[in-house]
Amino acid sequence: MNYLSKTAIKILNDNWKDGFTIPTANLYPFQWNWDSGFTCLGQSYFNLDYAIRELNSLFTGQWQNGMLPHIIFHSENEKTYFPNYDFWNSNVNSGAPVKPKTSGITQPPVHGFILEELLEKNPGNARLKDFAQNIFPKIVAAHRFLYSYRDPNREGLFFIFHPWESGRDNSPLWDNILDKIKLDKTQLPEYVRRDTSIADSSERPTSIQYDCYVYLLELGKKFQYDQPGIVAESPFLVQDTLMNAILIKSNESLIRIGKQFGMDTGEIEEWQQQSVSSFKSKLWNSKLQTYTCYDLRNETTIDYREVGALVSLYAGIPDAEKAGILNKQLTDLHDRGFYLCPSFDVDSPLFDSKRYWRGPVWPQMNWLIYKGLLRYDYDDTATIVRSDILELVNKLGFYEYFESQKELLPELTKGYGGGNFSWTSAVVLDLIHT
Ligand code: GLC
Repeated sequence: MNYLSKTAIKILNDNWKDGFTIPTANLYPFQWNWDSGFTCLGQSYFNLDYAIRELNSLFTGQWQNGMLPHIIFHSENEKTYFPNYDFWNSNVNSGAPVKPKTSGITQPPVHGFILEELLEKNPGNARLKDFAQNIFPKIVAAHRFLYSYRDPNREGLFFIFHPWESGRDNSPLWDNILDKIKLDKTQLPEYVRRDTSIADSSERPTSIQYDCYVYLLELGKKFQYDQPGIVAESPFLVQDTLMNAILIKSNESLIRIGKQFGMDTGEIEEWQQQSVSSFKSKLWNSKLQTYTCYDLRNETTIDYREVGALVSLYAGIPDAEKAGILNKQLTDLHDRGFYLCPSFDVDSPLFDSKRYWRGPVWPQMNWLIYKGLLRYDYDDTATIVRSDILELVNKLGFYEYFESQKELLPELTKGYGGGNFSWTSAVVLDLIHT
């Protein structure tokens, strides 16, 4: 076994906390929603039992309304994280579990396609089949939550009301909306950030952004995290490209899995038809020649090129012409000396190749885009996306995210954010095996 595989397995084993995996020690000491999806993909290469337990423990946090929270606080004794379970106070919603405690928002619904990946990699495994039949309705319930609680105009495109739901926490995508929030500091509860005492503050969101995150969290809490008041009052109400593309991809997987098990998939097929058609018609931005997010509160497109749009390829959304346009944008970036795929438009003044979601390369995004490019037979670009992330990890270690400008690499000895990162290890394992 080569060095990368061995290290990846070691990290995943070290981050395993008897039933679930933390993304990285210190910075993220609990179980995260979409991280867990990628993690179990990696675990399936060396310990399928862990993979099954990983997803099972994630779903112990599912709410009665179907929502799958973005953080599951399996331990109430871990005090080094903010906002912790007591700050979220998710039990303002009577359908939130009392144990484990959870956050009050969700994250990209990756679990449908992850389940299909596990099944494809382990054909004929009886334990996995039982597990899949058991978890299937729970994943469907998580999708039903998005369609029933987060799609007020019944368009087939669900909204997020907090940047953390998008998985791309402080992308410049959200700047304009957050800038408009006029914060009265006296109305915010007092809080102390923990992230900047663990990671370099130049790689983390600013304090003004953090105040807005807390403000939106408080707004969710005020409406028990699922009431119509969120639609009525939230200044942040966005139909996100990445979130909706991932939902569509997971729907597609659930339809196939459901049929295989002889289940009724009519409801999912209806969702899917509407979602695909609305994504195509509403989110394609002909001015920017990419898919863009839609700001439902201000009824306007969010005009930035960024990495979320590229996940549409994995979901099979673009026609051949649009897929060609997206592919060309990637090959141009490669030709200009960027590692694929920078998380934000490199030509924007808001691009920052070091800070969190404002420009670096993220491993799990490369995985999603790699798979999407293969789906459209752009094998050459897919190969670059795959080898870029493997090269970055090989040179700089198993970090959370990485520098995207090749010319800066000689000065660097490590990646950015947290080290010994779970999803980095997981996608490296999967990419090595493909
Ligand atoms: C950051 C990322 C988010 C991820 C979490 C744990 O908040 O923005 O996508 O799930 O870290 O890794």
